[in-house]
Amino acid sequence: MTPTGTASAATPVFPTTALQAIQQAYPDRHARLLHQLLGHPLLTRDALAALATRLPEASMEYNLGTLPVGLDPHDTPANGLSAAETIRSIDENRSWIVLKNIERDPAYGALLDSVLAELAPLVMPVTGPMVRREAFLFLSSPGSVTPFHMDPEHNILLQIEGRKVMNLFPAGDPVLVPPTQSETFHAGGHRNLAWDEAFRDQMDPVTLTPGDAVLVPVKAPHFVQNGDGVSISLSITWRSARSGAEADLHRFNRLLRARGWPLVRISGQPERQRLARAGYRITCKLVGET
Ligand SMILES: [Fe+2]
Repeated sequence: MTPTGTASAATPVFPTTALQAIQQAYPDRHARLLHQLLGHPLLTRDALAALATRLPEASMEYNLGTLPVGLDPHDTPANGLSAAETIRSIDENRSWIVLKNIERDPAYGALLDSVLAELAPLVMPVTGPMVRREAFLFLSSPGSVTPFHMDPEHNILLQIEGRKVMNLFPAGDPVLVPPTQSETFHAGGHRNLAWDEAFRDQMDPVTLTPGDAVLVPVKAPHFVQNGDGVSISLSITWRSARSGAEADLHRFNRLLRARGWPLVRISGQPERQRLARAGYRITCKLVGET
């Protein structure tokens, strides 16, 4: 950090060991990392409460945090506070809050760009250009649980304040995420997954304290348990030719399954399945889907 508190060009967000871990794991496996964003002036609670007053209401989601591991999305309770109030009283309000798409704010957009610039030389040769580049901030009260779910992006979660356990499961396991669930998810279905205690055998609990980070593969199931204090985490995400092709092929299978037609086998490199992807585009036109 420079004396003014802004990140110096000489201080990368990720040390060499983190970049090596990303190179070995990306894009299919998770990896424990370290980061060097602690103390950044855009990541204090005051800065985040100010950001919450600038973001549109649709960019924020906040709820009571004392929830069971498995939760029907329709049962998620509200907490009765504004987003900025939720942040300022996060120590005692038993809530969690997500600030979405913070890159739309110019200062946070510049921060995201600087982080992704460090990753681009590792990521682009494997999965192509980093597109739909987005950043999220998660704040949660002591003891909060984020239920079992999956996300559609390549993600690195950087812990800024407090302690949380990211309970991670392998991506691409059809027992954890049945193909029909992926098909619904990519057609706009909810991210929450059905929980079964038998899944715990495959769980890798990754403990995050300030300065820790974790690389999370696309659609790797996880649930998150907060520690005894407030937790603040920054999530930087991107999508790729690979994640886009995988989503398209699951949408294709949804159309095929509904008509009783043979499904496409989705490989580990769906961006190379050009014939199947062309079939999806043609089928969309035939059935009137966009
Ligand atoms: Fe998540």
